[in-house]
Amino acid sequence: MKRPLVVLFDSGLGGLSVFKAVRKARDDADYLYVADNGGFPYGSLGPSDIVRRVITIFDTLQSSRPALAVIACNTASTLVLPFLRQRHAYPFVGTVPAVKPAAENTTTGIVAVLSTPGTLDRDYTRNLINEFASHVHVRVVGSANLAGYAERILSGGLVDDEDIKREVMPAFYEMDIGEMDTGRCDTIVLACTHYPLILDRLQVVAPWHADWIDPAPAIACRVVDLLREWPVMPGNGNARAIITDPDGVRRFRPIFQRFGLSLIAGKAEEVPA
Ligand code: DGL
Repeated sequence: MKRPLVVLFDSGLGGLSVFKAVRKARDDADYLYVADNGGFPYGSLGPSDIVRRVITIFDTLQSSRPALAVIACNTASTLVLPFLRQRHAYPFVGTVPAVKPAAENTTTGIVAVLSTPGTLDRDYTRNLINEFASHVHVRVVGSANLAGYAERILSGGLVDDEDIKREVMPAFYEMDIGEMDTGRCDTIVLACTHYPLILDRLQVVAPWHADWIDPAPAIACRVVDLLREWPVMPGNGNARAIITDPDGVRRFRPIFQRFGLSLIAGKAEEVPA
């Protein structure tokens, strides 16, 4: 009996926050983690570049016959899902800002969505807010540097608390909620998969307590549901990774190892420049 192959895709290391949750839920599946480190950060790429890169990568993965794929990147998911679903017969699970759970969670009615500048700009994000959070205040905060800081921290580099604080502080805002009364943002959506990986650093610089919403557990549930046709098999499946720019091999290999993934290749030649 074959194990299902689950592909997880991100621009870099961020998708590892999703991989961790998904693998825990179905550790018998085979996994292929694909990091388009040659295009990182997606937050600063234009929409057509992102669509072109992701489509090309998934075309090259066709022969691996995935059972399903998770786009473990908000910046890409808010753009590419319709294109991928049109081109491939297997299911794609997206990672999009968890606006609905945040709107359900807040008690002050004040919420922030912390994302890359790309996700901030998308119609997809605006539509989610209109559909699920029109009854609460939502501020979308686009951080230009936080995903890069997360990559640096995971790679063993140093990032000052002050630098992290500068990116996060706009999410901690207050609003007038009645005569002489102000309310604080109490719920922050982690709308970039890199951010849960440095949540401890975000919490340290937070000026007050807030609930941070990580979409990974919900994505893991969705994957389990989609894999229900595949009987659970004894033992762990294999977990491998590829990156698109082989210059990252030395940096990525030990990080992937920590997450139980073995880096098998850099495939720069298959990704458009
Ligand atoms: N991890 C990605 C996301 O969830 C984006 C990081 C980047 O800017 O490439 O949006």
